[in-house]
Amino acid sequence: MDVIVVGASGFGRELLQYVHDAHKNTPGVHVKGFLDDDPAKLDSIRKATGVGIVGDTLAYTIKEQDRFIISLGDPGLRRALAERLARRGARFVSIIHPTAYVAPTARIGDGCIIGPFANVGSYVHLEDHVLLNLYSAAGHDVRIGPYSVFSPYSVANGGSQLDESIFLGTHAAITPNVRVGAESKIAAGAVVYRDVPKRSLATGNPARAFPLDGAASSPQVEPGAPGRNSAGRDLELTVRGGG
Ligand SMILES: CC(C)(COP(=O)(O)OP(=O)(O)OC[C@H]1O[C@@H](n2cnc3c(N)ncnc32)[C@H](O)[C@@H]1OP(=O)(O)O)[C@@H](O)C(=O)NCCC(=O)NCCS
Repeated sequence: MDVIVVGASGFGRELLQYVHDAHKNTPGVHVKGFLDDDPAKLDSIRKATGVGIVGDTLAYTIKEQDRFIISLGDPGLRRALAERLARRGARFVSIIHPTAYVAPTARIGDGCIIGPFANVGSYVHLEDHVLLNLYSAAGHDVRIGPYSVFSPYSVANGGSQLDESIFLGTHAAITPNVRVGAESKIAAGAVVYRDVPKRSLATGNPARAFPLDGAASSPQVEPGAPGRNSAGRDLELTVRGGG
């Protein structure tokens, strides 16, 4: 298996280290390099990391043994890039840092990242491309929808349900059995006691939820539609780093 990290700056370089930490003694696993759409990084990244950029997300020729992992920390971009690469035949690998705890009963989808000291409790279900950053936690029976991102030290307590493409800022907390609707953002340090409607921004303790850009009342916009971020803005669909 040749692992390719999508996005070569910021979190992408951290993720490269997680791959090394997780697989340095695994026979047959090699880190092949980064995919990144910024040609300006071609020289500097190899100098900084010892690993080169093997191509960009549109033109790279995918090989049978390649497995991809997306570093970007924006749920909308994670989805757009995952779909772009999947359409071209890419397959994805999940990376679990050796210091993380993952309960044997947890289910982990493809393309997930479970960072250092993260905790995944009993009967948790992580759907594809979820990112749990360092020291974040999902309590027992939590379900996390695809492309969702937990910033460092954020937590979803037991029985909570996070729908697709949720963003939790650092130290955000979802209290037990609460549901967060698709594409919502929970601000750093917010404590959520009540269900959050889809496409909301929740801030403060106790958290209050506001529609993101008024888009909550626009059902014609498909949640997480490729090419738009969780605030409904157009995305630049080039990968110029991650996180
Ligand atoms: C969740 C978060 C990212 C949302 O911020 P954002 O991306 O700027 O959100 P939007 O651009 O969609 O802003 C929507 C509106 O909410 C406001 N807003 C954003 N965060 C806010 C907060 N914490 N409290 C009050 N209002 C806030 C914005 O100013 C904006 O208002 P406007 O439309 O009148 O200009 C931000 O609050 C946050 O928590 N940032 C920290 C992220 C973090 O922990 N990163 C770690 C990565 S490793």
